Amino acid sequence: IQVPEPVNEPVYDYAPESKEREMIKSALSELSEKQLDIPLIIGGKEVRTGKTGEVVMPHDHKHLMAIYHKAGPDEVRLAIDTALGVQKMWQSYRWEERCAIFLKAAELLSVKYRYKINAGSMLSTSKNVYQAEIDAACELIDFLRFNVYFAQQIYREQPVSSKGIWNFVQHRPLEGFVFAVTPFNFTAIAGNLPTAPAIMGNTVVWKPASSCVYNPYLFMRILEEAGLPPGVINFVPGSGASVGDICLTDPNLAGIHFTGSTAVFQKMWKIIGENIESYKSYPRIVGETGGKDFVFVHSSADPDQLVTALVRGAFEYQGQKCSAASRAYIPKSLWPQTSKKLKNEIGRIKMGATTDFRNFFNAVIDKNAFDTIKDFIDSARKSNDSEIIIGGGCDDSVGYFIEPTVILTENPVYRTMVEEIFGPVLTIYVYDDEEFEKTLELCDSSSAYGLTGAIFATDRAAVSTALAKLEHSAGNFYINDKPTGAVVGQQPFGGGRASGTNDKAGFYTNLMRWVSPRTVKESF
Ligand code: ALA
Repeated sequence: IQVPEPVNEPVYDYAPESKEREMIKSALSELSEKQLDIPLIIGGKEVRTGKTGEVVMPHDHKHLMAIYHKAGPDEVRLAIDTALGVQKMWQSYRWEERCAIFLKAAELLSVKYRYKINAGSMLSTSKNVYQAEIDAACELIDFLRFNVYFAQQIYREQPVSSKGIWNFVQHRPLEGFVFAVTPFNFTAIAGNLPTAPAIMGNTVVWKPASSCVYNPYLFMRILEEAGLPPGVINFVPGSGASVGDICLTDPNLAGIHFTGSTAVFQKMWKIIGENIESYKSYPRIVGETGGKDFVFVHSSADPDQLVTALVRGAFEYQGQKCSAASRAYIPKSLWPQTSKKLKNEIGRIKMGATTDFRNFFNAVIDKNAFDTIKDFIDSARKSNDSEIIIGGGCDDSVGYFIEPTVILTENPVYRTMVEEIFGPVLTIYVYDDEEFEKTLELCDSSSAYGLTGAIFATDRAAVSTALAKLEHSAGNFYINDKPTGAVVGQQPFGGGRASGTNDKAGFYTNLMRWVSPRTVKESF
């Protein structure tokens, strides 16, 4: 048996009058009209606790899309016991059989549920149709298909044997359950974190972000339809503390697969450290966390290419990608034309609800995000160190809208140059052309993070200097391209330093974390 080499799922453009445009419109109206009552799913059974949270549309927060039930301690324990209880059954499946389930889920997403999951993403997380398509449909499909392919590579790779000796390695699943904690900003990541360990034979307790329960729930249903046996993945929305504390202190915790904030990840790591003697095995800790992603510009850069990348890199999905450009270093010689072009381009951006396809720019995820981002903007407005040169408007009367905002600073360590904001705010520092290398060093040393970054230059020596000086500043490094939009199988994604364990989502190195190989030697 050979899993065919996957190709990336084609991206639809949803052009006006197209069949795809009509299909997504009808999915949008269907989902807007129907309120869901989202249960926990434990061992394939729906569980309703009566303690509920709300899913509202971020661009129209009076519109309730669903209520979801929150797990309490009993449900979390039940989810853990269920995951442990079905382990033997799941591990008795041949890997080809397990993989078939995830390939079928990819197929269902591609042909049956594409419009529904995209509409869910547009309405419940305020993504425009293109952002929804590249994430909830294409990237999630890619994760499933490529991970199956990577699993095959892992299972096939074997050590050498010699005369009279037969060696082989069994890639056993981990002993215990995996705890998947998923973010609001990508349905694809939310889908990848529980399924990657499950593909390798593990069973999972899955806590989606409270600000993004709707699409994970749709995906959970798709996994069930694809044939995922009950209990392999247990879906338990709830508060971080109530679900997290029980999962993290359970002696059978075998691993965590996390994407979210640096602070939460560090807290989880501490809890695991404090309990280290109580686990059956050292839990695998795999996490992708914050970022302060940069665009560094050399005087030889092409200004048009640069401005397109700045606008897309900083403002697609309202800057709420962990990979989003949030600080830029621009040489004095290029600043006048860059700032003019930037103002023109940003001035043309339309902001509003995702249901109007002309809106490139939509709302931020919720009230918390709105308040945090607004605080950064307000303090930049008051500070002597910074000047808001574009945008800065915030209005949460209908939806959580914050204009695409550009701050200029002469202080390279001003707080918006170094702290993560996770919103549509780009801070620019203009440097003397002669200080290229010194400013590269500053870019490297002034941030604790190491997720993504880009260099813009046509001069090859400048590219080479940047690659060397910024060696550990970014796990995903782009040359003359925006620092967002990694494609599964093409640009394995993840970073180091305070940005995570860099196990590279969308690559076999991630799947290796979900197995505990046993080496067997037999002598004849
Ligand atoms: N993988 C996402 C990107 O590269 C976060 O933008």
